Amino acid sequence: MCGIVAYTGDQPAKGILIEGLKRLEYRGYDSSGIFILDSPPYLARSVGKVAELERRVWNSAPDGVAGIAHTRWATHGKPSEANAHPHTDCGSKLFLVHNGIIENYQLLKKHLVETGHQFKSETDTEVLAHLVEACYQGNLQVAVQKALLQVQGTFGIAVMHLDHPHTIVVARRGSPIILGIGEKASLAASDVSALAQHTDQVVYLEDNEVACLEPGKFSIITLDNRSVSRGTTSLDWDIESMDRGSFPHYMLKEIFEQPEAVENALRGRVNHSEAVAKLGGLESVQERLLQARHLIIVSCGTSFYAGLFGRYIFETLTDMTVETELASEFRYRKLNLRQGTVVLAISQSGETADTLAALREAKRKGALVLGLVNVVGSTIARETHAGVYSHAGIEIGVASTKSFTSQLTILTLMALLIGRSRDLSYEEGHEIIRALEKVPDQIREILKQANHVRELAEKYCHADHFLFIGRKYQYPIALEGALKLKEIAYIHAEGYAAGEMKHGPIALIDPKFPTLALALEDGSYERVVSNIQEIRAREGQILAVTTERNTKLGNLVDDLIYIPETHEAVAPLLTVVPLQLLAYYCGVLLGRDVDKPRNLAKSVTVE
Ligand code: M6R
Repeated sequence: MCGIVAYTGDQPAKGILIEGLKRLEYRGYDSSGIFILDSPPYLARSVGKVAELERRVWNSAPDGVAGIAHTRWATHGKPSEANAHPHTDCGSKLFLVHNGIIENYQLLKKHLVETGHQFKSETDTEVLAHLVEACYQGNLQVAVQKALLQVQGTFGIAVMHLDHPHTIVVARRGSPIILGIGEKASLAASDVSALAQHTDQVVYLEDNEVACLEPGKFSIITLDNRSVSRGTTSLDWDIESMDRGSFPHYMLKEIFEQPEAVENALRGRVNHSEAVAKLGGLESVQERLLQARHLIIVSCGTSFYAGLFGRYIFETLTDMTVETELASEFRYRKLNLRQGTVVLAISQSGETADTLAALREAKRKGALVLGLVNVVGSTIARETHAGVYSHAGIEIGVASTKSFTSQLTILTLMALLIGRSRDLSYEEGHEIIRALEKVPDQIREILKQANHVRELAEKYCHADHFLFIGRKYQYPIALEGALKLKEIAYIHAEGYAAGEMKHGPIALIDPKFPTLALALEDGSYERVVSNIQEIRAREGQILAVTTERNTKLGNLVDDLIYIPETHEAVAPLLTVVPLQLLAYYCGVLLGRDVDKPRNLAKSVTVE
């Protein structure tokens, strides 16, 4: 969603801020803006790509050494220059950027208008600029603090004032702000990717905290005026992984990084002699976890489909009852969070607002809340009682790809950990571990078929609709394959449990409505073949994913993609890869912006 970057130091701010905005582009945006404190002060805003703003900045911006910048994803008011951030107060002395939503902005605005403030945009954010102006009596941090006490909703903000040329005040509630502290400069951003090039010393601001940044130093107070003493932490971040290398898109690069992502998810986490998983992040809660009887998994989008896989793997390897719930629906359920309930929040970004709200609700009700998160230090990682990092590395393409295969790997390890403390035998545990350890090389084999998948994309990319079907472990993969095709190629696609075909969707089938069938030679193979025959009888085109030694499907389907033999429970880590490639190539062939699909954001920080 929206992105913030702020800098105060001894270098011209413009290059640092623009570079930061480009690093944040992957989060989704429709307009952007920049303020540089100089004489005279410089403000530029534009609709569309950051490159548009960049052109203007290089032509006209001064070399001032402090400034703030923003990429906006419209919530209140259409994408336009007037609605883009930074926003200013009446006297144009104060400049402010904001992520989040001010829920009581209409009430605040009415009061401000009555006291003479004049508004120039339709945004909720502009209210904050006027509110800080109204509270300002010479101390910017105190003014921000006083203003935010009146605000309902979520915010991550950065504020500058002409009277304090080297100072930036930032604050957060529900929307991330991270400080980056260097020797002669301080930065702040809504995402570490905008800081990592400049410093590896960061401070994660907590909700309801206000920080004052000056070059090389910072101080924090809470909204209720307690001073906070917090040191910096070192960022474990591989800068090189933020570049595309020789790949045309981040999405393709990240699909190809999956062998390493699975290796990293497994590294140091398997105890072969006991056929069990070792998950350091869960050690502090291991006793409660091993006694738990009931697991609720909460997540959104692709992470939700990982959670659906989690239901099958936990039910297979452990004796737990498992529910997988969309985080956005969690609050509407009357859940019986009995003693021994564990709630697991899965999230790549660790910032998804719905998932965060669900875990807070679960904590309130006394559940043990765990996280499975990719971004280290993210809000979900910090707010859960314990958890496991997926270590997939930074994922920049809006589509989740390598983070999904990492999530599946770790869910399997978590289920193994619990299962081995109960009924799961050493031999069964070993079989899973052996299968998992083969996955990286097996994915490498599948990736060698990328050209074949591209040819299939050429054949199928003009379809208006697509159906994906699978059973048991392959059902979540059918859903994920359909989501990928929707979001990347903008092709209407439905994922279905194959058994549901005759309860409705088969009515859609005709020669122009292709189906991708996940037809592995596992316990449900014969039934999936029956579904394929039913589709064929209605002249539907079929593209099937099956296992290498299966020679029987050739005359039943139009096209085939083969994956190596593996354990039924581990197969989703393989079958998802050709589906990601299919979506990617369809997107490219149709001229879509595959790394930044329309209307989408990498990190969905509003509910
Ligand atoms: O960061 P999260 O895993 O919590 O994000 C959840 C969804 O927003 C995300 O998976 C989304 O569906 C992706 N665009 C899928 O590719």
